[in-house]
Amino acid sequence: MVSVSRRSLLALGAALPVLGHLDWAVASPAPAASDDVLLNYNESPYGPSKAALEAMQRGIAAAGRYPYPHMYALAALFAQQQGISEDNVAVFAGSMAALRYAVLAFTHPTRGLVMAAPSYEVPRQAAESNKAPVHEVSLDAQHAHDVPAMLAADPQAGMLYLCNPNNPTGTLTPTEAIRQALENKPKGSVLVVDEAYIDFCDAPSCVSWIKDHDDLLVLRTFSKIYGMAGARLGLAIGHPSLLERLAVFGGDNVPGGASLLGAHASLEDVKLLGQRKALNADVREETIAWLKGRGYSCTASQSNCFMIDVKQPAEQVVARLAAQNVLVGRVWKDWPQWVRVTVGNKQQMQRFREVFATQIA
Ligand SMILES: Cc1ncc(COP(=O)(O)O)c(C=O)c1O
Repeated sequence: MVSVSRRSLLALGAALPVLGHLDWAVASPAPAASDDVLLNYNESPYGPSKAALEAMQRGIAAAGRYPYPHMYALAALFAQQQGISEDNVAVFAGSMAALRYAVLAFTHPTRGLVMAAPSYEVPRQAAESNKAPVHEVSLDAQHAHDVPAMLAADPQAGMLYLCNPNNPTGTLTPTEAIRQALENKPKGSVLVVDEAYIDFCDAPSCVSWIKDHDDLLVLRTFSKIYGMAGARLGLAIGHPSLLERLAVFGGDNVPGGASLLGAHASLEDVKLLGQRKALNADVREETIAWLKGRGYSCTASQSNCFMIDVKQPAEQVVARLAAQNVLVGRVWKDWPQWVRVTVGNKQQMQRFREVFATQIA
């Protein structure tokens, strides 16, 4: 186990931007101890499905071969399931890479980035490294993206980033508002909708919209509901001309065959999504109800994370939980009294409640 002060530092967002990326060497200096309850990176407590693990074993055995046929097969399967063309799907070693490339491609010093606050930090960090101006617009009263304010924020914007459901709040932005953003954004800009968490909720995806819009990019990942964060696999979905603009930064940078085959098996497992979505929602709602019963407000999450208003500097709460091996966080600078908690499995959330009750509540 790393020391408490080191841990709390990490959980507090010491994952500093280094040349526009989260520095994972700093963020995770040592493997977690086996008794740690990991509720800090929005990972899945369930890991890859059984079918995915079996497929990954086959991928390891075939590691002497280049993985590209599996890459094309994965893109084709996703495209077929979504009713789009496989030319509209590009595979990356994690959607974070695709997101960073999108920022590098669509922003520059005179064409800024508009995004929400609090939201996923990677686009802001990438824009800063690209010397592009960043306009952060507070979420509205419902914790949805404030689309009218985002549209007004920068008439020269090169990219609008919209995370739905949003990380860290888990809250949704109405589909109609996303449509408004697409139809009214500055000329020449691209709307990037990050759907890393969309499978946890009932909201419709924007993927099919790419058929009629060459200025919309949608991102998906296998890191969340499919439990494959360590396999590094994400998808960018958009018009081929947009995907080409990302590819110049590293289009062949795909993970190995094991990851690709695991992802393929996950997509084929028709029952998996529904089961995991229901389980996550049950555990999330149980935890939030318990917190509300103790007088704490939580965001109306539809995802695998939510935020709690801890009514005190949230960094202290992160440190006190970390001292008991329950790792939560991060804290966002705009919301210093709120902490993000990932929804773990039932036992993990029971331990979270026990520790929260003795240390905080
Ligand atoms: C909103 C959002 N987008 C993208 C990512 C990155 O996912 P990946 O593991 O596919 O790089 C994350 C990871 O937490 C995320 O929260």
